[in-house]
Amino acid sequence: ILYKEPFRPQFHFSPEKKWMNDPNGMVYYKGIYHLFYQYYPNDIVWGPMHWGHATSTDLIHWTPKKIALFPDKLGLIFSGSAVVDVNNTSGLGTKENPAMVAIFTYHNMDGEKAGKTNFQTQGLAYSLDEGNTWLKYKGNPIIGNTDLKDFRDPKVFWNSDTNLWNLVLVAGDRAKFYTSKNLINWVYKSEFGKGIGAHGGVWECPDIFKIKVENSNEEKWVLLISINPGAPNGGSGTQYFIGDFDGNSFKTTQKETKWIDYGTDNYAGVTYNDAPNNKRIFIGWMSNWQYARNTPTKNWRSAMTIPRELTLEKVNNNYVLQNTPVTQLKKQLNVEFSKETLNLHPNNPSTINYDNLNQSQIRFTAPSKNLKLIFSNTVNDSLVLDYNAKEKTFSIDRRHSGIVDFEENFGKEIHKNSTPNIISKTIDYQIIIDWSSIEIFINGGIYSFTEQIFPKKPYTKLSFRSEENLELKNLNLSKIRTIWKN
Ligand code: FRU
Repeated sequence: ILYKEPFRPQFHFSPEKKWMNDPNGMVYYKGIYHLFYQYYPNDIVWGPMHWGHATSTDLIHWTPKKIALFPDKLGLIFSGSAVVDVNNTSGLGTKENPAMVAIFTYHNMDGEKAGKTNFQTQGLAYSLDEGNTWLKYKGNPIIGNTDLKDFRDPKVFWNSDTNLWNLVLVAGDRAKFYTSKNLINWVYKSEFGKGIGAHGGVWECPDIFKIKVENSNEEKWVLLISINPGAPNGGSGTQYFIGDFDGNSFKTTQKETKWIDYGTDNYAGVTYNDAPNNKRIFIGWMSNWQYARNTPTKNWRSAMTIPRELTLEKVNNNYVLQNTPVTQLKKQLNVEFSKETLNLHPNNPSTINYDNLNQSQIRFTAPSKNLKLIFSNTVNDSLVLDYNAKEKTFSIDRRHSGIVDFEENFGKEIHKNSTPNIISKTIDYQIIIDWSSIEIFINGGIYSFTEQIFPKKPYTKLSFRSEENLELKNLNLSKIRTIWKN
């Protein structure tokens, strides 16, 4: 495929045409990363949901596949997850050729229209040819609904501590945990969420996994919960909880609300089952329900974040989930400008002209002092990033970044975030820009900010401003090659 349209991401996954939202069914099997996604093949706005499908061997280059799951009489196919049933616990495959099993939410439109509350149930589909073709399980739904509106987004995984399957889904603003021996019969165990975390909207797209605390022998469980609305900068966002999970219930002593990303456009993100080397690989949907339907693209809508590796750090004696672009991205970079030291002087911005900014990575380290970065172009669009060391805040100002008037909230405010976990004397900045997005990773992803932008012309200038003499180190500007040819 060759993508040429305005705003088309050149190194992020986006569907060739039409509407996409959440990533679904992320599973690694026989050297292949499968990415399924919420897909409406007939329009560039949300509609009756299917599961689209793409595969990759490196998480960077994607091969579009045919649609995996179509709506049926039980309903539309909402978000969910996938596993490979290697021990054939379900009996749907064999040990020699295990089934790939997807568990998803059926959303029944007739039930919704009739004013019922139990119109979301959980269904199962399986593939005996490594994800190419899918069969719906005859006994669907496998988890029925008594009377819960917003009962969806099952994440299933093998729990090697208990030797059972686990499933977490959301119901209203609670997470519910289940266990199973065979992926088909599920036993409800417990609920989580009362009086803890953010509750500005319904909870969606949960995920839970065990992870090692870096530089220690400790292990913790992380529960991801997307929420819409109620995110720090409006609309949808993803919070997380650090705690312990015994296969039946999740417990935490966490008091504050933690967010995986402080930008406006990283939603419904979940992680891969069975990724190699025990890595936790995360992909989010790079949009926000506030304006997802209105963004100024023509034949398709939205993209996924760059895949990120999650690690758990202890900073300020506090657990922090760190997310950083997968190392495979490095292969796409061509360093085109580099400077060992760049000296900044007050009131005298240092400006670099660079034509490939819209498809680039910018990396440098700076003393932990006030610093502004301004991306601009020949038609006066500007995007401003601002670190304030005294206040310990990082803000993104996209109010004049390009086309912003397609929806009232998109360019309304500066997105200012408190960043107490930046405690080092020097700060490492990694910034990744594609034609309609910016992803900023501070100190290896202790903080990340993901936002959509729609510059009217490509950015060609990058200015650094500071109020005192400042020395930036190891500045590298790299072009990120397109993933859609070669
Ligand atoms: C999250 C979400 C899910 C749901 C899906 C429908 O973005 O609302 O809760 O399953 O999108 O497309």
